[in-house]
Amino acid sequence: MHGGGASWPLRGHEGASRAGRFGNGEMNDLIFTVAIDGPAAAGKGTIARAIAARFGLAHLDTGLLYRAAAAKGGDPVAAARTLTEADLAAPGLRSEAAGEAASRVAAIPEVRAALLDFQRRFARRPGGAVLDGRDIGTVVCPEAEVKLYVTASPEVRAHRRWLEQGGEAAAVLAEVKARDARDAGRAVAPLARAPDALVLDTSAMTVDEAVARAAAAVAAALGR
Ligand code: CDP
Repeated sequence: MHGGGASWPLRGHEGASRAGRFGNGEMNDLIFTVAIDGPAAAGKGTIARAIAARFGLAHLDTGLLYRAAAAKGGDPVAAARTLTEADLAAPGLRSEAAGEAASRVAAIPEVRAALLDFQRRFARRPGGAVLDGRDIGTVVCPEAEVKLYVTASPEVRAHRRWLEQGGEAAAVLAEVKARDARDAGRAVAPLARAPDALVLDTSAMTVDEAVARAAAAVAAALGR
């Protein structure tokens, strides 16, 4: 058990969400981006949601864009160019099969190009934003005020995926490693740590510890 807190992995509100710290129409023109990158099941999404809620920032799970583009079927480039909100709500996008398919279409340069503008606009929207993915601090928003690289050992990440999805443990580990290799080995926007990113290895951390470390970095950048 983690003292009084949540446990890995957390699944809550998915996709783009707006936490309401500046609610009720209050104007807030802060331009502030938190870029969170890292490999599959490292805890990026959990940390991103917690940071968005705590600091009142919008959140975009960019993996969902690639999952939705892959799931749409047909030509993935056309799918990426015509993605809608409804596509992001398609059933089954969270499955490992959808993640695997996403990682294949994510290696296509035209797919990445089609999704870039939307992510960049989201990153610099007034009020501030948290984006999690693979290339946020390196390609989508190299000017991000806070960059985190969230990682954990392949074994720990596979265990978290297994807790979430079940299946055969050895097969889950093999899938995690295969996806890591594809994401880090592709020619365009490979998974990589930005040189100025703070590395959070969550292998031996509780959710609360990881979120506290991330929140301290965000608070420092905000001057709070
Ligand atoms: O939740 P998990 O970390 O397993 O996956 P995800 O973040 O939803 O991403 C699914 C796949 O989309 C990844 O394996 C990447 O290949 C791709 N992706 C990407 O290329 N660039 C991003 N910014 C986000 C995801």
